[in-house]
Amino acid sequence: MYRIGDIELKQLEATIASKQLFRVGNPACGHWQQVVNFEKEFAQLIGTKHALLVSGGGTAALTCALIGLGIGPGDEVIVPAYTFMATASAVLMAGAIPVIADIDESLALSPEAFEKRISKHTKAVMPVHMIGRPADMDKIMDIARKHGLKVIEDACQCDGGSYKGHRVGSIGDAGAFSFNDFKIISCGEGGGMVTSNPDVYERASIFHDSGSAFRPYAKDFSIPVFLGQQFRATELMGAVMRGQLRRLEGILSDARRIAGRFRAELDGVKGLKIAPMNDPAGDCGISVVFTFESEAGARKFAQSPGVGAWLPIDTGKHVFTNWEPLLKKNIYHHLRMNPFYFEENKGLRADYGAEVCKKTLDICKRTAIISISPDFDEQHVAQRIEACKKAMKNWKI
Ligand SMILES: Cc1ncc(COP(=O)(O)O)c(C=O)c1O
Repeated sequence: MYRIGDIELKQLEATIASKQLFRVGNPACGHWQQVVNFEKEFAQLIGTKHALLVSGGGTAALTCALIGLGIGPGDEVIVPAYTFMATASAVLMAGAIPVIADIDESLALSPEAFEKRISKHTKAVMPVHMIGRPADMDKIMDIARKHGLKVIEDACQCDGGSYKGHRVGSIGDAGAFSFNDFKIISCGEGGGMVTSNPDVYERASIFHDSGSAFRPYAKDFSIPVFLGQQFRATELMGAVMRGQLRRLEGILSDARRIAGRFRAELDGVKGLKIAPMNDPAGDCGISVVFTFESEAGARKFAQSPGVGAWLPIDTGKHVFTNWEPLLKKNIYHHLRMNPFYFEENKGLRADYGAEVCKKTLDICKRTAIISISPDFDEQHVAQRIEACKKAMKNWKI
């Protein structure tokens, strides 16, 4: 749903003309500092001290955040049972074990379910702001602080969203965003990690920089260099993302206006219940979510002519029962690198049976979602709303 065009083209043209595509370079020699400047601008927008642009997507940004926080073998990390598999796979990439917990009807992690899943091994929780909708951060932060847990916000589907006036990603100890092709802002692939903790930032920077062979921009770090991955962003990514940042508020305000109109006109229609939201003002507006009493109701509504809704249960890798490699415990290429078999992880809860998060499966079946594009025109919006009203006329299941 991202918009792209002249702004990005101009940024790219200038960057290519400089013939300097590596993120490290000297501005005195014509280097544009696109990545460095994007990181400054993004941190300022989100409200954190630091940001890191990474080439490996939201998955890499989440992994950097976990590594930055020192999460590793022996640690359990609580993740919602409805999220893209990458939330859980990032935990495994850090050598820790993901523990699934139920969502509630807002489609985000249920604070009550999260608290119930805490064990003596729990080190962190990863609330996910699914389909542009902020999680219940006040409650989640209170529980996490009470139990001494770290909070990593997965804001991959919520670029620019906010919760009670704070941008998502700035509320926990670290946050991660995705800039892949399906996201609110994008450079095709890529991700952003944010934090205000200098140690988390330093560890994440070192990890993303193949052992920091190109350390000049990190010369003041206090954390000793260790080998990591190579997730450095290119100047081309930085150039596009700086253009995308200029578009973000426009995308959000158009999507919010359209989603708000759907909700205003459909709220109160008999049989149609708008799903609860943790902060309607901070919602990105990329979805309108309805809760039904049964799967049959959600399906009937979704399939009614002109409605064009979908059920979360049908979205493959977003539901824990479809996280195939994880269910089979197939992680990395070699058994000795597979966190499920680490000595430190023995006795941790690697339990992903359907019965563990039954409530999530029930909610995913009883929910219907209309995806919103900020570029829907007035006529299209009016037609879709009319189709929803028509679907509910003489409603019977
Ligand atoms: C909730 C969530 N977390 C993490 C990711 C991973 O992001 P990426 O595909 O950019 O690695 C995604 C991607 O769709 C996502 O939706």
